[in-house]
Amino acid sequence: MTDALDTRYVAARRMLEEAGQAHVLYFWDQLKDEQKTNLLDQIASVDWPEVSRLVKTHVLGKPAFTLPGSIEPSPYYANQPGKGQKQKYQKARKLGEKLIGEGKVAAFTVAGGQGTRLGWNGPKGSYPATPIRKLPLFACMAEYIRKTEQKYQAVVPCYIMTSPINDAATRQFFEQHGYFGLKAENVMMFPQQMMPAFDAVTGKALLESPDTLAMAPNGHGGSLKALFASGAIADMQQRGIEQISYTQVDNPIVKVVDPQFIGLHAMDECQMSSKMLPKAYPKEKLGVFCLVDGKLAVIEYSNLPDDMAEQRDAEGKLRFIAGSIAIHVLRVDFVRDLNTRPGGFALPWNRADKKVACFDLQTRSMVEPKSPNAVKLETFVFDALPLCDKTIVYETDRVQEFAPIKNADAPGTPGAVDCPRTSMDGQTLRAALWLEAQGVKVPRTADGRIDAVIEISPMTAIEADDLKGVDLPEAIDPGTEVLL
Ligand code: UD1
Repeated sequence: MTDALDTRYVAARRMLEEAGQAHVLYFWDQLKDEQKTNLLDQIASVDWPEVSRLVKTHVLGKPAFTLPGSIEPSPYYANQPGKGQKQKYQKARKLGEKLIGEGKVAAFTVAGGQGTRLGWNGPKGSYPATPIRKLPLFACMAEYIRKTEQKYQAVVPCYIMTSPINDAATRQFFEQHGYFGLKAENVMMFPQQMMPAFDAVTGKALLESPDTLAMAPNGHGGSLKALFASGAIADMQQRGIEQISYTQVDNPIVKVVDPQFIGLHAMDECQMSSKMLPKAYPKEKLGVFCLVDGKLAVIEYSNLPDDMAEQRDAEGKLRFIAGSIAIHVLRVDFVRDLNTRPGGFALPWNRADKKVACFDLQTRSMVEPKSPNAVKLETFVFDALPLCDKTIVYETDRVQEFAPIKNADAPGTPGAVDCPRTSMDGQTLRAALWLEAQGVKVPRTADGRIDAVIEISPMTAIEADDLKGVDLPEAIDPGTEVLL
């Protein structure tokens, strides 16, 4: 062993011992130098004093949720302007368009997740998402950006958060496909940080092999640090970017850059704003935007007591209706300030009980658990909302903007949600509504479903009005496929 390795080993062992995690070095004597270096690098990427604290509070113990004293439903801007709001919405839209046109808005997607539920072997963004062209999720985003750039005659740089698990594959996917028509110099990818997975009973960090820790991405909250640490924020500032349009990679119909939302957020001088979806029923599994002691926050659906979830206002509408769908706008200087404030910033950690395959120290073999054996720890980006002085929530429309792909298709399973099938149906439905708004006759089945498969490329339209002036058929034949 070289002296340098030796010195690093001694320092790592001391740190791990203090954190009660020295077993990570169990196979040290049997490792080759290269393996030792890899293991030491992995160890160095983890904040072990913090791990030691979190194991006590979040792995061996389960953090109890205490309902804050004062919770009110969050106010929000309705999707369509109400009485007296038309002018404000128009002005806001113009402001959003101006910011995009001046090159002050960047698109940012979080794509570091493992996509375990979908069971897709590759970055989730490479999943073929659209009903006819089978366009990958990343390409849906790229086409949306290209159309925006065309419409507003501006550059919209694109930032993508990957994780060490899928970073190389994501880069390769973009290179193989010529960046889907975007300029490579306007696309920046950077990996988020990882966190070890822990044995749920002992709190010990799990190994994936004798020289590798079992690690998982540290949650989309990790984006707030990764944006800064990667140099993405500095790059944005150099380009004169002021606003970051934040979306998730799993939703092929998300408005990647929405002038109305960006405009309302900028007009009200907010640091971070969020889109909401009205919950369809009280116990729908969406976090809920609330005012907690006057500050905007998201309360997980599992933490919202039933009686609150069921409360209705005088008109019969759910009181706590504003569901969180992970679409935000953040000011660049807000993210910079979080990272440069004295003492830094910390988001709360959340515990998730998962199945994690691991290398057993005693039997020296892999264990494939059948039930959750491990704890993963994640932070959530919306937990930055209470750190803001000003925020708004803006309502969006489920059919127009939310058709995520999260779960694998389950043919024959009634009520399957957020899977490729439901997303493709959602994409066809939205396309049909846009066409009907232009007077095209769209066939429907007796129970009201669209009797055709329709795909509108973002290069043709990213909103209904873009179809004005496009050569459209008068009617669509039942059972056909139509690509526009
Ligand atoms: C998330 C939201 C949920 C919302 C839903 C909308 C949370 C806790 N839940 O649920 O409130 O209704 O989206 O679609 O936010 N990601 C990373 N790094 C990570 C973890 C995730 O980049 O470490 C990315 C994923 O690639 C994906 C997105 O974040 O793009 C969502 O991740 P996921 O963990 O699947 O959240 P959901 O359960 O879908």
